[in-house]
Amino acid sequence: MSEEKIRPKINLTRTLPKPNPYAMAIDNEYKDIAFNEERAPLNKSKWRSDVFKVSDVTPMDVEVGTGAGMHFAHHAAKHKDRCLVGLELKYKPLIQSIKRAKFQGGVHNAICRYHAFNLDLLFAENEINNMYIHFSDPWVTPRKPKNRVASRVLLNEIYQMQRSGSFLEFKTDSREYFLWALEEIKETKYKIEYQTLNLYDQDNVYKQNNFQTSFEKIFVNQGIEINYIKLVK
Ligand SMILES: C[S@@+](CC[C@H](N)C(=O)[O-])C[C@H]1O[C@@H](n2cnc3c(N)ncnc32)[C@H](O)[C@@H]1O
Repeated sequence: MSEEKIRPKINLTRTLPKPNPYAMAIDNEYKDIAFNEERAPLNKSKWRSDVFKVSDVTPMDVEVGTGAGMHFAHHAAKHKDRCLVGLELKYKPLIQSIKRAKFQGGVHNAICRYHAFNLDLLFAENEINNMYIHFSDPWVTPRKPKNRVASRVLLNEIYQMQRSGSFLEFKTDSREYFLWALEEIKETKYKIEYQTLNLYDQDNVYKQNNFQTSFEKIFVNQGIEINYIKLVK
């Protein structure tokens, strides 16, 4: 597989002909904690100092593809001592995520309208701690592995952005995507702490600590096994 970097471009919020209330909210009601695709990269290297106003040693985690923000808000409420930045492409789930985190008592949370492939434009080397990639699009139909987030190219970039001792958690309902990702992971420097083809098979700490979003619940209720891996830097 080629190591070529795909650099996707997304449309600009400010040029939307008819922005919906969610798109408007990014640059108005939530402008200090929600960042459109033009404002988000201005925070690179400055998330702790300028956005969250915390010390450089305060942990800062990242979640890619927050969806409706159930895990995002859960993390925000559970870890008030940590910062959390979410990435989401769609306006409605993006606003739902940041609203939900605030509602559940989150303290240092921000959300960006940004494409996961451009993470390196958002965060500098050694800037982030833990990384969550939950149910990112498997690109199985149509089968376009080049669009998958858990690729060696992106994982190697994330590895550089993470502080040592941090983890990366990846889960998916797609066995095909997961087996493909395992091959990609072999081409990175990550150590595997735990991996399973069925997260709910054994009653261990990974199952007990797992937070199930309604999205995950749909698969579990259908009897689909959840593939899970935790990597450590
Ligand atoms: C299937 S949902 C999963 C939501 C959530 N992580 C969960 O586990 O319930 C995936 C979300 O990722 C977002 N997404 C897809 N591709 C993305 C990308 N390249 N960058 C950022 N977000 C993306 C989608 O808009 C969608 O809301």
